[in-house]
Amino acid sequence: MAEAVIVLAAQKIGVALGKEAINQAASYFETYVTQLTDLQGRMARIRTELRVMHEYLSGIDVRSHNKKTYEVWVEEVRMQVHRIEDIVDDYLHLIGHKHDTGWCSSLKKRFKRPNILLSLNRIVSSIKEAETNLDHLFKTKDRWVSVPNEGDTSGENSSYIVERSRHLADISRSLHEDDLVGVDGNINLLHRWITTDDMRRKVIMLHGGGMGGLGKTALAANVYNKEKANFECYAWVSISQAYTMMDVLKRLNTELYSREAKNSSVSDNIDDLGHRLEGFLNDRKYLIVFDDVWEPATVDELLRALVPNDRGSRVLMTTRIHGVAHHALSDMRIEIQPLSPDDSLMLFQKTAFPREDNTIPAELTTLVDELVGKCKGIPLAIVSVGRLLRDNTEAEFRRIHNQLDWELNNNRNTQDVRNILYLSYIYLPTYLKNCFLYCSLFPENYHFKRKKLIRWWIAEGFVEKRGGRTMEKVAEDYLKELVYWKMLQLVRSNSFDRIKIIKMHGLVRELAVDMCQKECFGVVYNDKAMIHGESPGEKDERRIVIHRINWDVDPDNLGAHVTQKISGAHHIRSLILEEDNRTPQARTLVPVVVKCRYVSVLELSGLSIDNVPNAIGDLFNLRHLGLRGSKVKVLPSSIERLSNLLTLDLTGSELQELPRGIVKLTKLRHLFAEKVSDKYGRDLRCRTGVRIPNGIGMEKLRELQTLQALELRNEGSLRHLKEMRQMRSLRITGVRGSYCEALCVSLSQMKMLSNLDIIASDSEEFLQLSNNLNPLPADLEKLSLRGRLAQPHMLLGATAATTTGGQNHLCSLHLSWSRLEDDPLLSLSRWSTLTRLSFTRAYVGQQLVFLQGWFTNLKKLILRDMPNLDRLEIQQGTMTRIQKIVLQNLSGMVLVPRGIEYVQPTLKSLLFLDITPVFFAELRNC
Ligand SMILES: *[C@@H]1O[C@H](CO)[C@@H](O)[C@H](O)[C@H]1NC(C)=O
Ligand SMILES: *[C@@H]1O[C@H](CO)[C@@H](O)[C@H](O)[C@H]1NC(C)=O
Ligand SMILES: *[C@@H]1O[C@H](CO)[C@@H](O)[C@H](O)[C@H]1NC(C)=O
Repeated sequence: MAEAVIVLAAQKIGVALGKEAINQAASYFETYVTQLTDLQGRMARIRTELRVMHEYLSGIDVRSHNKKTYEVWVEEVRMQVHRIEDIVDDYLHLIGHKHDTGWCSSLKKRFKRPNILLSLNRIVSSIKEAETNLDHLFKTKDRWVSVPNEGDTSGENSSYIVERSRHLADISRSLHEDDLVGVDGNINLLHRWITTDDMRRKVIMLHGGGMGGLGKTALAANVYNKEKANFECYAWVSISQAYTMMDVLKRLNTELYSREAKNSSVSDNIDDLGHRLEGFLNDRKYLIVFDDVWEPATVDELLRALVPNDRGSRVLMTTRIHGVAHHALSDMRIEIQPLSPDDSLMLFQKTAFPREDNTIPAELTTLVDELVGKCKGIPLAIVSVGRLLRDNTEAEFRRIHNQLDWELNNNRNTQDVRNILYLSYIYLPTYLKNCFLYCSLFPENYHFKRKKLIRWWIAEGFVEKRGGRTMEKVAEDYLKELVYWKMLQLVRSNSFDRIKIIKMHGLVRELAVDMCQKECFGVVYNDKAMIHGESPGEKDERRIVIHRINWDVDPDNLGAHVTQKISGAHHIRSLILEEDNRTPQARTLVPVVVKCRYVSVLELSGLSIDNVPNAIGDLFNLRHLGLRGSKVKVLPSSIERLSNLLTLDLTGSELQELPRGIVKLTKLRHLFAEKVSDKYGRDLRCRTGVRIPNGIGMEKLRELQTLQALELRNEGSLRHLKEMRQMRSLRITGVRGSYCEALCVSLSQMKMLSNLDIIASDSEEFLQLSNNLNPLPADLEKLSLRGRLAQPHMLLGATAATTTGGQNHLCSLHLSWSRLEDDPLLSLSRWSTLTRLSFTRAYVGQQLVFLQGWFTNLKKLILRDMPNLDRLEIQQGTMTRIQKIVLQNLSGMVLVPRGIEYVQPTLKSLLFLDITPVFFAELRNC
């Protein structure tokens, strides 16, 4: 491990040697060029060293894991690397220090000269020391730590991973046939494929969907054992990432020859082995299983070793890697899914209560449900936990349940589950490891919102730039990968299938928490840990997350502890405190927090603070400042010095106007500053935004992607908007009809715009959008228009074309307070990509009819606050994919919507809210 830490440090040096920093340094140290060049040279060398080290560590650590000397050494590496990160941050702080301007600046500068040289020398000597230490570390390793060489193909077997994988495979194969639950379909399919009378050799792939322990090995073993008798020869070989072809050939030879009581005469010549194998298989009908293949290239290599004879031979491969499963041309591929809750329970019952006819004693049902829930449908996890509990008394059961977390860490009998999860972690690509560990800093069952998590990851520096894509897009790919690997679990997607909410599996999280501690990645405090746990700094943790603090218990004592913990943590890079902490004690944190000088992520949402100290400007590293829900009315002027800030979140605060200094935050990507007065969005002015002070040029904020929400006070506030060409998500409030032309000119410059929300200044104002917002921006996915619409049919009836002439992608449309007199559905029916359609006071007519063939992609329909509506009709063949319909406050409706039965097959939920008693009675009869 530690490699994820190394990557971050190498990136940081990259920043220090980047163009911006080089320029700053050149002007700051203008008279000390020699020393500066020397320093930069040293940093570059260290970076090279770190990169090589990273490659080296990712190559070997898997196999050397659990060797004490190696672990101690890696721990030292991590500490050194953290130290380097600090030095580089000190350097960045020094050069990024904004110089005073004005008449006395040159005087001050000259006055400060000795200090400059002093600080430069201090950094140079620290860097020298770091270089020496790294050097020393490598010597120590050579002297004391022996690790197997990477890529060594001499056939040695000492590697950890090989043993581990074999061990796992053995457990899986030893699962009793009764342990297989919910797999009948797959067994039958495999049976058919293996026994078809097609004489050509066939390759069958069993794919574990990214996760170990789903039972692919057990399934393969079951089929292998049943079918092998029908083959002339057969063999089972467990592959692993550290496999060598020599190993595989030897094993194949040994297994095949020995079964025929022949001498296998193990040769050490790879060609020799290959020939012997070929000679053996050439005219036999064979069944060979390769279990747990890790790389696409391996598939080719293995298949080359087996002669493709025409005797009905079969090769069965199992893998958890998507790329492997889809590498071979094989159309015989099965992806194994986690067990359903019912099957999970059944499997658990069989394992834990083998005697009493599998029935669960009534007093244990709740415990069992919880335990089984933790296993997330992973058969191996279920079986392992089940075994631990087999034949235990109730008291024992309860004790074990209560200590499950502890057991998972310490009890040898649960190692199986853990190893599986641990392997999944080990094999994550480095760039995902930090992202993964990060999620475990949050409470169990915490629901992460995609966008928010992504903003944190980016601020932490976990996300690499890839080609021309934004970091947000890259991070979204990371998220998808983690979901694919089953390290994160998808909770909800939005109507157009983007990840919306995810969480972490219980067992996976427990493992990750453990890894976090080992790697000093971060520390989590709830109120017990806050009072009794050790302080950060003692272990050099880089992140502190505080949650589930019950301030009511003993606010003063807790406040003192929190303060003490944070002030002891000089080196933290993130502090996350995200809860509704409306006690005065929580407020006292802020002055302490702003003393953590390296901090780059400050998430303090829910704190009832009313002012931000001026010292915040000293946090030169700060990239994320979250003050959601605070009472802040003004920001200190020092805010302009936070030149690295990417996200500023002031949602719900009392801020009315942006400070002038905001234009100096030229890296800012996401700016949230709005007050939500009605979170259901039924009022017209459900949100109010912040104003821009007169005369400041927002055009410098060129990187801005999110602006929610800008409150217009005149047309002039729109002038600079068009320079924000990176804009993706924009909410504008207080829009008057007369502003619309200028607004749309700006919007047409925002080529990436995907989410647009326009809110009129009052309920009588007409939004003049029909000439201007037509066609729509090419990438627009979500559009919300609140207020009356001038010439609605021109706007809504716009052909589906976009500015670039392509088809629009509009997925979500919300019309609110438009009070249309004519039925808008005919016009809207042409917007065939819509997956979500929502009306709030949008229509004052009496009927809405959904005709056949309309809205065939729609998943969610919401109709609210339309008292005149008395007839809703759904024809057959409309909304053929609809999943959810919400009807709220439609007081004119007295009849159940006609044709509702046509959408029943796909409908998952139908909600009636605020309905009249008449309608309710009608509904009951129905
Ligand atoms: C190979 O592994 C076995 C058992 O894991 C061990 O007994 C043997 O000494 C190892 N051989 C080598 C060459 O490391
Ligand atoms: C294996 O081969 C050796 C010599 O190559 C021979 O002496 C021995 O009897 C053979 N064993 C069997 C079981 O065939
Ligand atoms: C229902 O809608 C009407 C008109 O749109 C509105 O005046 C009324 O306040 C709404 N009722 C509720 C309970 O929100």
